[in-house]
Amino acid sequence: MALREINLMVEPGETVALVGPSGAGKTTLLNLIPRFSDPLSGRLLLDGTDTKALSLRSLRSQMGLVPQDPFFFHDTIYNNLLLANPSATQEDMEAACQAAQIHDTIAALPQGYQTTVGERGYRLSGGERQRLAIARVLLQSPRIVLLDEATSALDTVVERKIQDALAVLLQGRTAIVIAHRLSTVLSADKIVVLEKGRIAAIGPHQTLVETNPLYRQLYETQFETHMVEQMEQSESAL
Ligand SMILES: Nc1ncnc2c1ncn2[C@@H]1O[C@H](COP(=O)(O)OP(=O)(O)OP(=O)(O)O)[C@@H](O)[C@H]1O
Ligand SMILES: [Mg+2]
Repeated sequence: MALREINLMVEPGETVALVGPSGAGKTTLLNLIPRFSDPLSGRLLLDGTDTKALSLRSLRSQMGLVPQDPFFFHDTIYNNLLLANPSATQEDMEAACQAAQIHDTIAALPQGYQTTVGERGYRLSGGERQRLAIARVLLQSPRIVLLDEATSALDTVVERKIQDALAVLLQGRTAIVIAHRLSTVLSADKIVVLEKGRIAAIGPHQTLVETNPLYRQLYETQFETHMVEQMEQSESAL
């Protein structure tokens, strides 16, 4: 059993951060939402409707996914973005990439949006891949966003870019985010602490720091951040 006794309500427009140690069940829980797998018992409702009563196509068209290590086809950036929204124009793509903080990087490539990426193509860095995946979801413009944040440590400039890209992505949408970065955790409306497949606690940051030892330990040792930023942000969170 990877998950047990999960009872979670997500309100429209809310950002929910899932945190917990490796193996706690975060990805398993996120994967239930687009029905990549189904629970052995229990139900998952979307606006009160059992998701099993919806077609997979209708269910999944309502959500955009930013995986931990996004996949791109061995094709141009342009064509990869077009898959997210076949009616997108070059202007739409550039606007989405601007918002996702990846346009300047693409524009600086010799072939720009016509650069081939994916296996054997131009090697985008981890941070670039995640930002391009964010642009892809912005083009799709779903009302629900599922995000599995990358764990790799990023330098301050890239960190800030991702933070800005995420702010645009999550604005006005319902989001469930597996959070590894402190800035994401702090910007969530509520934080769900998973431990060994169960929900150990749900709450805002400060309450969890004070009442949940596992959360406090994650806060002190696991969340990716920079010392200065961490201090700034915990001050503003207080
Ligand atoms: N398909 C599967 N079959 C059996 N066990 C699985 C399967 N997928 C995951 N598990 C197990 O379920 C538990 C939860 O895994 P999950 O991938 O959800 O953890 P996680 O919280 O996302 O961890 P991480 O932070 O390392 O990504 C782990 O013990 C894992 O080994
Ligand atoms: Mg995982």
